[in-house]
Amino acid sequence: MGSPFGDSPRVVVKMWPANWTDPVDSFQIESFILTQIMPFNQNNLFMESENTPLLNQTALVTGASRGIGRAIAMKLATLGADVVCVSRTVENSQKTATAIEQMGRNSWAFGVDVSDSQAVVESCKAIFDKTPRIDILVNNAGITRDTLLMRMKEEEWDAVLDTNLKGAFLWTKTLSRKFLKQKSGRIINISSVIGLMGNAGQCNYAASKAGLIGFTKSAAREFASRGITVNAVAPGFIETDMTVDLSDDLKTGLLNQIPLNSLGKTEDIAEAVAFLAGPGARYITGQVLAVDGGLVMA
Ligand SMILES: NC(=O)c1ccc[n+]([C@@H]2O[C@H](COP(=O)([O-])OP(=O)(O)OC[C@H]3O[C@@H](n4cnc5c(N)ncnc54)[C@H](OP(=O)(O)O)[C@@H]3O)[C@@H](O)[C@H]2O)c1
Repeated sequence: MGSPFGDSPRVVVKMWPANWTDPVDSFQIESFILTQIMPFNQNNLFMESENTPLLNQTALVTGASRGIGRAIAMKLATLGADVVCVSRTVENSQKTATAIEQMGRNSWAFGVDVSDSQAVVESCKAIFDKTPRIDILVNNAGITRDTLLMRMKEEEWDAVLDTNLKGAFLWTKTLSRKFLKQKSGRIINISSVIGLMGNAGQCNYAASKAGLIGFTKSAAREFASRGITVNAVAPGFIETDMTVDLSDDLKTGLLNQIPLNSLGKTEDIAEAVAFLAGPGARYITGQVLAVDGGLVMA
């Protein structure tokens, strides 16, 4: 028997509220499911839940406006999650949130400097006015201020450590109360291969990313008994705004060191995060997953 709603059951589901008579009660919902959807779309609904393992979950991604963070936010939404998008300005976050809404998921945009503790606490209150829970936290926002140690200004050190490391601490601490209460949660910190191997001209960045790994392992031990996992992804060299200015010489030098002989794509990192956020990673915590074309082999 064919569906009277065409070939796209997901679109039908998302249209309910728009067509509904007011007020909506649970009987209306139940009868709609039993009479309209179940007889026609049982197989499709089953497929939808298989393809969308993060359905009914909410993710918060920092640095979601572009680059790796945007790819992560989009991937989690593809897998069914609603997504809170955070970057320094609400306008930038909104670009990703709008793209996610167009996929039929809920998404909310926030402008928050992740290194500002008061702003993080206040925005969390505002976030919980929009959505009752956060299931997945991705601490991705990050910056570089590269220069040789001898020339590095204190402000350059502080800016990088405050954004990359303190930012992750603030979001994790602020949301941990909810995670502990829920007795579930996935926290994924975006570190870097530079935190594993170091790099001349990046003492501040390497320290922040190595710090994030120590932070990940310690938090994993603290939260494990409550069913919360904490893992890190360590990207290699990924094509984003952060790496766009690398000189051709530097790029060639880098490629020679990467066994898979190419720079990575933002989607490569998003796939790894999606795995760590999903049901398949239930038994993984305190780990660092390098996604780097083989650059660092532990
Ligand atoms: N690209 C790589 O090769 C590479 C390699 C290893 C690790 N990583 C890590 O991956 C993460 C993402 O990197 P990317 O290459 O995608 O960088 P990107 O393109 O420069 O994007 C950085 C993101 O972080 C946000 N951000 C920066 N400072 C912030 C702050 N104080 N508060 C809130 N949001 C802030 C930016 O938002 P707005 O500017 O819109 O506010 C933007 O969304 C970073 O942690 C980076 O260290 C990247």
